[in-house]
Amino acid sequence: MARVPLLPLAALLLLSACSSAALAASFDQDFDITWGDGRGKIHDNGQLLTLTLDRTSGSGFQSKHEYLFGKIDMQLKLVPGNSAGTVTAYYLSSQGDAHDEIDFEFLGNVSGEPYTLHTNVFTRGQGQREQQFRLWFDPTADFHTYSILWNPKHVIFMVDDLPIRDFKNNEARGVAFPKTQPMRLYSSLWNADDWATQGGRVKTDWSHAPFAASYRGFRADACVAVAGGRTRCGASVGTEGAGAAAAGGWYNQELDLTRQQRMRWVQRKYMIHNYCTDPKRYAQGLPAECSMQQ
Ligand SMILES: *[C@@H]1O[C@H](CO)[C@@H](O)[C@H](O)[C@H]1NC(C)=O
Repeated sequence: MARVPLLPLAALLLLSACSSAALAASFDQDFDITWGDGRGKIHDNGQLLTLTLDRTSGSGFQSKHEYLFGKIDMQLKLVPGNSAGTVTAYYLSSQGDAHDEIDFEFLGNVSGEPYTLHTNVFTRGQGQREQQFRLWFDPTADFHTYSILWNPKHVIFMVDDLPIRDFKNNEARGVAFPKTQPMRLYSSLWNADDWATQGGRVKTDWSHAPFAASYRGFRADACVAVAGGRTRCGASVGTEGAGAAAAGGWYNQELDLTRQQRMRWVQRKYMIHNYCTDPKRYAQGLPAECSMQQ
């Protein structure tokens, strides 16, 4: 009797050994730690990355690849305790003056007070499309997945697979959309106590330093920029098991009705700032997309 389960178990072990060998992706392979003089570190065989911030410096990393469209997932665990004044930025950005950018930024707070999740989209250097959210969990207690789905029709921000924002391609109606400039993935942990927490009133308490944020579970189903201005799509790279399914799905993905309703629910309950309802910001009138149902 004892033999019966042995065979499937052995087969399973063999299988998982094969797949992890085939997908030996890691933070070492996909990212460079670009600043912070040793404050950013890769651990656990490339499966975990940590950034730290102290009074002298923060730290940051960037992807080796540039992407032109993709579904990019990362699990983050943010600075716990008194994180006031600290900002963890996690974003895609192209280079140059007229750059495109898709941002997640996490603004820390004093112990027991909530983080603010700040999002923004820049097209050709033009941002000012902030939407801010509360989270429905403590982002410092565990890892949670923050995703960007960027395809020719949408930029969709997701938290644990729940869409929170959908910036649509409204080029046909004169709204610029990021779709020609490849972007790198960046993240950094830095001190922004001049503005980040409660409008800059609460400063970083350096007696709690070093502050640390952690990353794992990177996965990119994306089109990767290669030489000669071309892209290679369909190859899945990442530190999570990534299949060959990449070629399809995400490139044409939109939110179905159910997911649109979920997004509206999150926005009603958790959105704390929306540029589209901030006339102070736009004396000349709100950006065109604001009247085109966001
Ligand atoms: C910090 O907590 C205060 C009080 O709850 C809140 O008003 C503020 O939006 C929170 N977040 C930041 C980044 O200041």
